Order: sequence, then C-alpha cells, then structure tokens
Amino acid sequence: MRGESGAPEVSSPPRRSGPREPGRQDWSSWPHYQAAASGFRGYWYPVAFSSRITGRPTQVTLLGEKIMLVRDGGTVFALKDRCPHRGVPLSEGKRQFPGTVSCAYHGWTFGLADGELKAAITDGPASPICGKVRQPTYPAAERLGMVWVYVGEGEDAPPIDEQLPEELVDNPAVVGARIQRRTGNWRFACENGYDEGHAKYLHRTALWRVFKSMPVWNETRIERRGRWIYRVQEKQYWDADFPGLGTWNSQAWYKQRPPKDVTNIGNTGSHREVDPVIAAQEFPGFASVSMPGVLRIVYPTFIHYEFYVPIDAEHHLYVGVMANFSRGIRTLPFYVKYLGFVRWLFHGQFSAQDKWMVEITDAPPEKLYRPDDSLLKWRKLAEDTCEGRAARPKDGG
Ligand code: FES
Ligand SMILES: [Fe+2]
Repeated sequence: MRGESGAPEVSSPPRRSGPREPGRQDWSSWPHYQAAASGFRGYWYPVAFSSRITGRPTQVTLLGEKIMLVRDGGTVFALKDRCPHRGVPLSEGKRQFPGTVSCAYHGWTFGLADGELKAAITDGPASPICGKVRQPTYPAAERLGMVWVYVGEGEDAPPIDEQLPEELVDNPAVVGARIQRRTGNWRFACENGYDEGHAKYLHRTALWRVFKSMPVWNETRIERRGRWIYRVQEKQYWDADFPGLGTWNSQAWYKQRPPKDVTNIGNTGSHREVDPVIAAQEFPGFASVSMPGVLRIVYPTFIHYEFYVPIDAEHHLYVGVMANFSRGIRTLPFYVKYLGFVRWLFHGQFSAQDKWMVEITDAPPEKLYRPDDSLLKWRKLAEDTCEGRAARPKDGG
C-alpha cells in the first residue's frame, strides 16, 4: 500500500526503538495492525448483494483471496476460485450436476458443500483421481440482504450473529444498502470513518448537511463497552475564536443545531423523539466502531453502518447500510426517504468525500493531533483483539 512504502522525505521507515522526530508516528506500536494490510482473518465479511449471487458462478476477492460464489438450491456456497488442475478460475465454469460446479477447462467437478472432487468428466466415471482432491471451501451466510463469507484458518467459523451489530440481530429492521469497490487500504477507510475531527470540516460542504450545523470542535472521550468503542461527546463548540486569525464556524441562518439533549445520538437537527429500539440500546455515544472494521453512526430514527471490507492491500469494499426499526406501514417513509434522497446525498455525495480522502491518504509517517485519540483507540482495539489474525500471504496454490 502507498503508506507502507513511506513518504518521499524519509529514506527508511522510522523504527520504534530508534530515534524519531518527536510527535511523529509510525505504526510499529501496533504490529498486528500494521501487518494487516490485507485484512484480519477470522471474521465474516459482506461481499455482495444476495440478489447478485445466482446459479451462475461469480468471483469476489476478499483478503487477497479469489473466491467463487454460486447459489444452488437456494443456498450460497463459496469455494477457492482456482481449479487445482491447471489453475483456471472455477468461476468461469458452470453447474452440470446439482450440488456441484464443473471447471470450464476439463470438467473437474467439485461438490459445493465439501469441495470434494466428485468427477473428472473428461476422464470418465471411473477416473482414479476422484475423491483424492478437495477444493478449499469457505463458510457463507446471508444477512441484511447480503452474502457474507468467513475467512479463517480452518477452525469452525463462529456464528455470524455473534459478529453483527447486536441490535440488528435482536430486532427486525428494514435496510437500504450500498456496496462500492473503492481504492485505498481498508484501514484508511476505517480510520476515516471513526476519525473524530474530519466530519465537522470535510463534510461541512456536503448537501446531506446543508440544513444542519456542525460544531467547530468537540471535547470527546472514547469509552469501551463490549466489543465496541464509542466516541462520547462531552462538549460541543459551535463557534471558536482563533487568536490572531479571527472567528470561525460553519453556521448559516438556514442551518439547524441539534437539540441539546440528543448530543450523543446523532446531529440530525430537528428530531426530538428517538426510536424506541434505538433508545433501548443506551448507546453512550453516536459513533462507535468494532472489529473487523464496522462503523456505527446512531441517529434518532435510524442507524447507519459502514463495513470496510479488505479486497487486497490497495482496495476495499465500502458497504454502507442504513437500518430503520419501524414495523409494517411505518416502514414506508423510510423507503421513500432512502430511495428519494438518502441514497444519493448520504451514501452518495457525502460518502464520496470520504472516498476522496481515503484515496489520497498517505500514512505513516503521520503527526497526530488531539482528536486522533479516536483513531489511536481504534488501532489499539484492533491490536488487542487480533494477535495472529493478519491476513496470511497468498500461498499461490
Ligand atoms: S483446469 Fe480445471 S479441469 Fe483442468
Ligand atoms: Fe466522513
């Protein structure tokens, strides 16, 4: 990735034990995080909309591994996308028999559930190689209208519901989602999402915020609860006087400020009533993050999630999910709102500002400032959770 090749002004990356410029950070304090350029193994990742995975094999790349996805009998299966015979992607093949996929080249036919070589079509029914080759498989599941794949080290995958945001497991929700392949390392995307300082400045021009004020700066602390760390806004400053420079704010007569009592539950302007499912969670702060790169932004009537899915060291999938916990006819306004403008303004133009920054971030080296405590705490969470889970180098097999 760009950041790990170092910036032009340094000839070699600074070492933890050696002298380095005061205040300048490399990532060696978080060795596992530093090593996880292609992501952390041992987690479930969303990779595609369920509707896109059909009986025709499809290739996705996750943590640098090429994976074939196919639907058979209503169930999605995931196999390593490289035929062991001559290395052709299995995703170029077809299903010739129920519960199997056949390679496009010589017709080696693998069981979808267990990866076992069931037939080598061009060597006849008694081909001696049958049963002697097993193609690696991956656990796959469907949640929130998406296909999720587990990448691990052969251990049994933990139930996916243990990894999803708890409120999405415990409560029915309607969701609007966007999946976009983006350039840039997944860690830059996650750090950008949880970064406390940027929203108030970078996003002040976003159309999504056009009628909503943003503070100039906040006093924030980071609180851990369960597997999440929360940004807790202690105090917001809507104007600031910078000595010798003047005052600065992002106010305008047409912009609303959120009511004071909902400071920690989203800056959405006018809402005073909080959805009962959201209120029941008692989130200590409106922005939180958990492994393996899941951002949760809580608003009074919906929750926005971002999943930063490592494709490889240079690319990630941005998976934005907006969830609303209304039932029945009351879900209608959410659909109208999501399809009418949220999809375009929030998952579109607002999020494109983040995409822009993630593409051009070049760190380390870096020199952090006070609001970056959020970023440091995220790295610490990843480091403390993930010993030995960095993506292994490709085996080429
Ligand atoms: S390369 Fe797959 S069957 Fe020959
Ligand atoms: Fe942002």
